[in-house]
Amino acid sequence: MQTGRGNWNSRLGFILAAAGSAIGLGNIWRFPYTAGENGGGAFVLLYLIFVFAIGVPVLLAELAMGRASERSAVGAFKKLVPGGLWPAVGGLGVLTGFGILSFYSVIAGWTLRYLYLAIMGTFKGDVTAATSGPIFTNMAGDGSMAILLMGIFLLLTILVVRGGISGGIERAAKILMPVFFLVLIAMVIRSVTLPGASQGIEFLFHFDFSKLTAAAVASALGQALFSLSIGMGAMITYGSYLPKDINLPVSGFIVALCDTAIALIGGLIIFPALFAAGADPAAGPGLVFVVMPTIFGAMGGFGYLFGIAFYALLAIAALTSTISLLEVIVTYFVDERQWSREKATWTMGILCFLMGIPSALSQGAFTWLSSTPERAFPGGDFLSLANIVFGNYFLSIGAIFICIFVGWKWGIKAAVEEMSRNGKLPVAAMWSFMVRYVCPVAVVAVLIYAIWTNSYL
Ligand code: PFF
Repeated sequence: MQTGRGNWNSRLGFILAAAGSAIGLGNIWRFPYTAGENGGGAFVLLYLIFVFAIGVPVLLAELAMGRASERSAVGAFKKLVPGGLWPAVGGLGVLTGFGILSFYSVIAGWTLRYLYLAIMGTFKGDVTAATSGPIFTNMAGDGSMAILLMGIFLLLTILVVRGGISGGIERAAKILMPVFFLVLIAMVIRSVTLPGASQGIEFLFHFDFSKLTAAAVASALGQALFSLSIGMGAMITYGSYLPKDINLPVSGFIVALCDTAIALIGGLIIFPALFAAGADPAAGPGLVFVVMPTIFGAMGGFGYLFGIAFYALLAIAALTSTISLLEVIVTYFVDERQWSREKATWTMGILCFLMGIPSALSQGAFTWLSSTPERAFPGGDFLSLANIVFGNYFLSIGAIFICIFVGWKWGIKAAVEEMSRNGKLPVAAMWSFMVRYVCPVAVVAVLIYAIWTNSYL
């Protein structure tokens, strides 16, 4: 312990916790449905390019800021370059944390309901898209149920975040992430051997550039940032608990690799099964919830157990992400406003609950928040709008400013030094070039393009 704020206990603990933040509903829920809406292969290729060309450099920049300052998303800017308006970028990150957590916990709540349904044997036997579709719509359209589920999920998040860094978060992540990986692999094997599965693999990996739209470019960037948990200071916050003797670039790169692998695995589970079941890839946020049960049905006797394991672990993967979202907010109030962890966690958790209510009611419960054929809600419905505004726009804006700050204000030299504490950073020159020029310019260009073509909404 160097600061009295707590630290990760080991490199593995940090990697699993950071990977736990990165891996979540973004990989299993958001990635497949966004890929489905944007035509598949071309989107996937762009997403991969953005992850490695923009995501990894920004991820390392955030971790370096965090470890060098040992402060929250806001405090890091203050400490590294005192004076000026830069801490506002951290403030934007805290705000983004509220925004993402508010809709994310609604989806996370759904996973709890599906866990219950799996335990009750709902997905036994011959489940088709036609039978699983109404199960989803009924659940999502039930407003009080959605609010209750979201509340339960936020309560779980609060209980872990209260426990602090290594006590709660690290211990949970260490055990559960590897188990999740094994269950997913088993599901890929089942999905790709379903009759008609090859169409799904083709959809995911056939890079047909004629299908590439402005919306696909913009969404691929948003997805890359969202999936890696970057652009809002979550990795600044996690980096601030990182001991100095851990190799930062290697750890960061491993986190990015794990996250990307799980997104592709998510796609490899969903799309073969989706085509085998004859469902529509562009079905939107309900996609995963409609398609997954058809796989358990096709798994025979094992399907029952796999269904339970899958939803339990998906809920846990979501929990390690909601923990990091709340942690960004809580660390800010603890570090900068001198609140106790207990007070910050409860107050901010309850605030997120209130902010999540419109999203919870937007899947059919309240017509004017939902997507209806007569009236187009921007983005589809309130939840999708929040997802686009916070998950795409705000993260992109945050990423631009983080690059400019690290590349031009705090300084490349200091950042490279922080990253090279445990061995030289072999690609320092390339990283610097990416952070100073390529990343900010590319993100600005994609943002302008997205706004110009009105492609997010
Ligand atoms: N990366 C998480 C996921 O893919 O589910 C979501 C997320 C967590 C985004 C934390 C941003 C963040 F700061």
